[in-house]
Amino acid sequence: MTTDVLVIGSGIAGLTYALHTAIDRPDLKIIVLTKTNEDETNTKYAQGGVAAVFDDQKDSYDKHIADTLIAGDGLCNPSIVEIVVKEGPQRMREIIQWGTAFDKEQDGDYKLGKEGGHSENRILHHKDITGKEIERALLAKAHELPNIEIIDYCFVVDIITQHHLGKLITKATPKIECYGVYVINLETNQTEKILSKVTLLATGGCGQVYRTTTNPKIATGDGMAMAYRAKGRIENMEFIQFHPTALFEPGKRFGQAFLITEAVRGDGGILRNSKGEDFMIKYDKRLSLAPRDIVARAIDNELKVLGDEHVFLDCRHMDIDKFKDHFPNIYEKCMSIGIDVSKQMIPVAPAAHYSCGGVKTNEMGKTSIDYLYCCGEASSTGLHGANRLASNSLLEALVFGYRCFEDTIQSIDSISIMHDIPDWNTEGTTEPKEMILITQSIKELQLTMSDYVGIVRSNVRLERAMKRLDLLHQETEQLYKTTTLSPQLCELRNLITVAYLIVKSAQFRKESRGLHFTLDYTEKSDLVQNIVL
Ligand code: FAD
Ligand code: SIN
Repeated sequence: MTTDVLVIGSGIAGLTYALHTAIDRPDLKIIVLTKTNEDETNTKYAQGGVAAVFDDQKDSYDKHIADTLIAGDGLCNPSIVEIVVKEGPQRMREIIQWGTAFDKEQDGDYKLGKEGGHSENRILHHKDITGKEIERALLAKAHELPNIEIIDYCFVVDIITQHHLGKLITKATPKIECYGVYVINLETNQTEKILSKVTLLATGGCGQVYRTTTNPKIATGDGMAMAYRAKGRIENMEFIQFHPTALFEPGKRFGQAFLITEAVRGDGGILRNSKGEDFMIKYDKRLSLAPRDIVARAIDNELKVLGDEHVFLDCRHMDIDKFKDHFPNIYEKCMSIGIDVSKQMIPVAPAAHYSCGGVKTNEMGKTSIDYLYCCGEASSTGLHGANRLASNSLLEALVFGYRCFEDTIQSIDSISIMHDIPDWNTEGTTEPKEMILITQSIKELQLTMSDYVGIVRSNVRLERAMKRLDLLHQETEQLYKTTTLSPQLCELRNLITVAYLIVKSAQFRKESRGLHFTLDYTEKSDLVQNIVL
């Protein structure tokens, strides 16, 4: 199969790019791949909303820029922050025009919520299901356009480069080129190739590398791992954001945890420990609305000191009708497990939520590999630095989806498809006999990462994690060489690669900054640097 433009991922990043390109260039063929059904993305689960300056009276670009820089703890690229904050509102108007509905006040102005680290109310939202609404609208628009084809249940295994033409590629190779991808077609179970002029990686995050995460099962860091294998540059992977308030459900030890959006704290929800204390007083003057790294670390400390498994989010003092209006999904979910938020506190604990690092790009979303762009959570554009400001992720995906499109149409007419690509080699492989070898390794990996590479780290813990990862790596490479490809095996391989990148980057960072806190270097270093692998 060949296409002009290949998009890997059907979340906000991939669809924004595909839509702009398809509308501007109806003559181009655009294929969007997604590994399960088209709407199963991190995007669909986004709750709080999108941060953008829409109130010219109280808010300003300068304030949004300052809040982003403060949260990023010295590592944001200021020029990228300015680009995203200033271009964001226009990108928002475009998705509104494409049919996304954000909640409005009676006078027609947008309702603007507040989240941790924001000095003003600036979060546009759709109840507490903002991501679901965005995903719905973007998919509906994509289905209207004849030059976009969405192929679901199509698992991308690897990016094709000169390596697949038999050439030796290293990080030092000056001009690595992307010619398309190898995929497992999950309808036929065949491994096929899709060749393209340009390819966009919009594969999202890697929350599944941890035992408990707000991310769905698809978030296995495939794009980051593929880019790394193709010798692309990966940046700042140590900065994994733990969301402070994932719903704690007893007995649910692995997998996706339901999020209680930070907007609940923005509307007045208060964190309390098992003694009923508003413990954030001890940690930060912004209390429950301090940036996420600070709140998650404070909770982690409370849990360790008190020997508890969760803290509480107290909403009992809030107006229940307003709560139900803004957070109907959370209200229902809590009710379904026997918690009436007007009478009982919600048990919450931190869970892996967002990868601030990823595939390194320039200001137009170009990676270090030619003809390969990256945007959305898989990328590291320089916006988030050491800690992402709440609700800046969807905004970044919109702005960089557009920027990747702008760059693509400048160059695509001078690019040809490379047809001379060999088929996937299945020689020497047999069907897997025991899936347990894969599923158990994934669990071991998740435990290792949660126990040793979580909110608080140390040299000894990182060293231990690396040893465990080495073993998992050896066993999995053996399986990979001898077994027919399956998405499960590829995901395990990708998770191990991403875990390795997180640990290695954490080992290089000899300081505590933003989301990376280590007991061995508790202060910030004077050397302000990004870790690039
Ligand atoms: P995704 O939306 O995750 O899409 C990834 C796509 O890539 C999927 O289609 C997937 O199938 C595809 N893919 C991945 N690997 C492969 C492969 N190997 N082959 C084929 N396809 C592949 N951010 C905010 O700004 N505001 C919020 O309110 C907010 N709330 C959140 C709440 C939750 C519970 C979560 C989990 C995240 C939240 N975030 C929020 C973060 C934000 O939702 C994500 O960062 C963002 O949606 C990522 O979009 P994306 O397009 O990069 O990736
Ligand atoms: C939330 O709604 O709390 C998540 C917002 C985000 O991740 O930006």
